[in-house]
Amino acid sequence: MPAPVPTPATYAASIDSVREAMRRIAPHAHRTPVMSCSTISRLANLDLRFKCENFQKVGAFKFRGACNAVFKLNEADARRGVVTHSSGNHAQALALAARLRGIPAHIVMPRNAPSVKREAVEGYGGIVYPCEPTVADREATADRVCRDTGGTLIPPYNHPDVIAGQGTISVELLEQCPELQAIVVPIGGGGMISGVAIAAKAIRPSIRIIAAEPMNADDAARSKSAGSIQPISNATTIADGLRTSLGDLTFPVVRDLVDEVATVSEEEIVRAMRLVFERAKLVIEPSAAVGVAVALSKRSRVLTSLDGPVGVVLCGGNVDLDALPWTKR
Ligand SMILES: Cc1ncc(COP(=O)(O)O)c(C=O)c1O
Repeated sequence: MPAPVPTPATYAASIDSVREAMRRIAPHAHRTPVMSCSTISRLANLDLRFKCENFQKVGAFKFRGACNAVFKLNEADARRGVVTHSSGNHAQALALAARLRGIPAHIVMPRNAPSVKREAVEGYGGIVYPCEPTVADREATADRVCRDTGGTLIPPYNHPDVIAGQGTISVELLEQCPELQAIVVPIGGGGMISGVAIAAKAIRPSIRIIAAEPMNADDAARSKSAGSIQPISNATTIADGLRTSLGDLTFPVVRDLVDEVATVSEEEIVRAMRLVFERAKLVIEPSAAVGVAVALSKRSRVLTSLDGPVGVVLCGGNVDLDALPWTKR
């Protein structure tokens, strides 16, 4: 029997928790600009509005969720610090948020993570704990660090405060472009799209939410059509922020509030990334290009049915400029 559809009150976040997050992070996070590019809009045959989270602190929307989670801790918990296992944008975001609150951030990272990532976390004041590059050792090391330090684990997406923080994207975007008909949101573990969907549909119930996913990491598309979480392991996509699978807090939101999951090929992701560099003059990472690629693909049934402006979240800009995917090495 299919699981009962939860009422909005049973999701991990609500418009109230998102608005609270908005007030909490306002002194620390950037209100990012919205930009457009007539060439890309013409190619997509849509009026696209880019929400530039590549200009967010640490270069990605992840700062919103991490900042909300860190500043929501009570004094006693905060003093013991925060812990996570990540080598991506969440690690940097948590390190910076913790530094702003004046508390330690303990970051468990695989030994084989690129040194630039380790240095970035250390640059924001994070304390790095190397582990073996396996999920089991990552989790075991994070558990040990939590026990040893008394720190609070802040996971990258499957957490109510992280989801509420990411939802602040919608509040801002709908203030900046109240007439939007849809928002395209890249999806990995689903923290960003959960917050965005909960807040956007509360503010404007008719708005459509489209998840953008690499074909090579299509767990959200498969989970939504199966009606249950279909995890993926070892996804091989250039969009490194989107290799993770949905969690138990994000899946119900994707199941109920996301109108469509649209997938794109690796070639389409690289082409979209290059187009954004070239024509919009914006530095974005491959995960952000996935949303643009969906708009350009013309395969989204929801997008082709619209006649008004469409938001696309350019979720991050942390890309290795020495290894751009169109450069011959
Ligand atoms: C730039 C970027 N975009 C998208 C995502 C996916 O976000 P979520 O896991 O909340 O779906 C990530 C996650 O690391 C990311 O770093």
